[in-house]
Amino acid sequence: MDWLSVLHVLLLAFFVFVICQLTRLYFADSDLTLQWAHHFGVPTSHLRGKVVWITGASSGIGEHLSYELAAAGCRLVLSARRKDELERVKKQCQLSGRVADADILVLPLDVVKFDTHKEHVRTVIDHFKQINILVNNAGRSQRAHWQDISLLVDREMLEVNVLGVLSLTRAVLPHMITSKGGQIVVVSSMAGKLGTPLSGSYSGSKHALHGLFETLRIEGHAMNIKITMVCPGHVFSSIRQKAMTEKPGEEYGVKMKPNERRMSTSRCALLMAVAIANQLDEVWISIHPVLLFTYMAQYMPTLARRLAVRIGMRVIEDIRHGK
Ligand SMILES: NC(=O)c1ccc[n+]([C@@H]2O[C@H](COP(=O)([O-])OP(=O)(O)OC[C@H]3O[C@@H](n4cnc5c(N)ncnc54)[C@H](OP(=O)(O)O)[C@@H]3O)[C@@H](O)[C@H]2O)c1
Repeated sequence: MDWLSVLHVLLLAFFVFVICQLTRLYFADSDLTLQWAHHFGVPTSHLRGKVVWITGASSGIGEHLSYELAAAGCRLVLSARRKDELERVKKQCQLSGRVADADILVLPLDVVKFDTHKEHVRTVIDHFKQINILVNNAGRSQRAHWQDISLLVDREMLEVNVLGVLSLTRAVLPHMITSKGGQIVVVSSMAGKLGTPLSGSYSGSKHALHGLFETLRIEGHAMNIKITMVCPGHVFSSIRQKAMTEKPGEEYGVKMKPNERRMSTSRCALLMAVAIANQLDEVWISIHPVLLFTYMAQYMPTLARRLAVRIGMRVIEDIRHGK
């Protein structure tokens, strides 16, 4: 075979590869690495017996992740502020028949009460003797015009979405280091990858998590600390209803409607559990067009920025409202 024939074969192979990847992407509801792990990677049952601490377990993604991990046979610590809701989630987890009463610890906590976190860690260690995985999922979103946002709202957002995560992670890390390893899961958002109109403080807080935890990924490697960044797109939950606005103390209050174009909470939780079991570095969990746009922003940032400003605020808002 001469060099020209070899070149033709290589070009044809490359062309077939690109077509296959584009076809996979068309049908995907997450990034292609996570899709691969879902079909060919380690099953979630691999997590059986692990102690997993989930914050924001009282509703939405954290609630459904609890069901997914209970079904996989994990021992769980369920945390959020509303104890009654955590008890409800615990009961529902037990229906899987894979976990006994003592396998689920309900531990109410407020992520912004930083001075309580070390005590909470001691409570978990006393109960389970170990913490294998911490899922930093608790968080708030936002609907507000950038120029109108009070600095008090920016501060509150950073306290809940960033400082709360840092404080709890730093309280857990010493235990993981002496236990020769552990996994920190951080629930970011596609808004942590893309500038997200009408969610300035939220998008900023999620971007901050990437800088902080990409650094820990490198520093923690020698201590066998694994980091999994999870970036969901539009998922059914109470996040929009509970979102902050530009005014301190105000809730946006608009509930999601069942007919909106969004991923189901259980599907998001399943893909998250796969990402955790396979210890993936970063995953994007979303339907199109947000998934496609995130690929574009990652590989063709200039084009994506130009497109984002051309599309205009109204279309972006329609997409965010699941239209
Ligand atoms: N749904 C989406 O479309 C979407 C998209 C991208 C990213 N996310 C991220 O996914 C995570 C979970 O959100 P979700 O969609 O499941 O919303 P959600 O249903 O509103 O759940 C938020 C959870 O966070 C807890 N929480 C809020 N403030 C807290 C605090 N100060 N201390 C302790 N817990 C607190 C809430 O429990 P209590 O009220 O009982 O404290 C609740 O369990 C968030 O980090 C969010 O940014 C969601």
